[in-house]
Amino acid sequence: MSLDPVRPDLVGKRLVLALSGGVACYKAAELLRLLTRSGAQVRVVMTDAARQFITPTTMQALSGQPVVTSQWDASEGNAMPHINLTRDADALIVAPASADLIARLAHGQADEILSLMCLARPIHSCRLLIAPAMNREMWAHPATQRNVRRVREDGASVLGPDAGDQACGEIGDGRMLEPEALLEDIVAELSPKPLAGRRVLITAGPTFEPIDPVRGLTNLSSGKMGFAIARAAREAGASVTLVAGPVHLPTPRGVARIDVRSAQQMLDAVLPQAASHEVFVATAAVADWRPAQLAEHKLKKNGMKVPPSLELTENADILATVAALPKPPYCVGFAAESHNLAAHAREKLERKKLPLVVGNLGPATFGRDDNALLLVDAKGEQPLPADGAAADKLTLARQLVAEIARRLAAAR
Ligand code: CTP
Repeated sequence: MSLDPVRPDLVGKRLVLALSGGVACYKAAELLRLLTRSGAQVRVVMTDAARQFITPTTMQALSGQPVVTSQWDASEGNAMPHINLTRDADALIVAPASADLIARLAHGQADEILSLMCLARPIHSCRLLIAPAMNREMWAHPATQRNVRRVREDGASVLGPDAGDQACGEIGDGRMLEPEALLEDIVAELSPKPLAGRRVLITAGPTFEPIDPVRGLTNLSSGKMGFAIARAAREAGASVTLVAGPVHLPTPRGVARIDVRSAQQMLDAVLPQAASHEVFVATAAVADWRPAQLAEHKLKKNGMKVPPSLELTENADILATVAALPKPPYCVGFAAESHNLAAHAREKLERKKLPLVVGNLGPATFGRDDNALLLVDAKGEQPLPADGAAADKLTLARQLVAEIARRLAAAR
């Protein structure tokens, strides 16, 4: 998964970014930049209150389009900007959405440009996404919570809010999400949902098998592929549980993460979850062996005449254990090989009794952002991407998730 949040994920999308009043307006400028860099065409609308915080000039420069600030704006031929802007838009994003604006939406008010546009939008073709931003007491107030419930019931998606430091100096829930997080949520909201209602369990990263309190056996897996699959599965509508070995990667938005260190801890985290998930994707590079004894104290070089020898014992195979459950989820294994990819992947498919194994060439993929995969199942082999060229891991993850969803649907 690339750390650069900007990818061409919104090419062809038409968006309206609407700002109500709040300090978080400064973040809307950065969000606009991310949206346009992701390929979206964006029109901007600002309320009078929003213009107290940043100017339309900034937003015009960043969007390359005039900014609409009034329902009386007569520059459009029919003088109806509140109608025109949303007719061919994929989504109307209100960021920041103030407590007042949410209250107005909850009551269907329409006496200024933003709420008027929300009410006049074609409800089935133009999604309404709102990113609340306000003081924590305002957010927690029963009136705001009631209004948020109401706008959700009316079909809006509520992105955030975040918790943390607030402009007023208080700490709590109500901050607007950071622009990168909003971008991730917007891309997810606008993605197809072939895994809606499904639950997906994923293992990722290496394991660390302790020798003593400061040393251990591990490997070079970065966890990037597993994290990318978690993000792609969430985008596709699944509820995702990600069991992660020791890695330094941010948790994909909307994904439940369980951190573990050793193979035993990974098994202990996975087994209670397996029955409640329809799909299990094992991307983790689980250590096959662990030191038979864990030294209570650090092994000291002083006093050792010869280097210590390590006795190893075998770890349980997490994937094979899940696949052997009486009612296993749809199990997807990964095979990292240095040669003979198809043959080794097929051998794992049969030995672990899996419906699908994803092969890749280990040394070419560990820690990198690009990869190429080979899907191996009972019917045959299929390269991903179809032309066999390398692609970034999030692109591959999305293609893999689409393949898994297709197979699940066919198996019904
Ligand atoms: N796996 C697992 N638990 C283990 C070992 C592997 O869940 N203890 C999973 C990996 O997450 C991956 C697949 O099994 O999906 C990889 O197979 P692997 O066991 O690494 O290959 P091996 O069977 O060990 O064969 P080899 O090491 O010889 O390649």
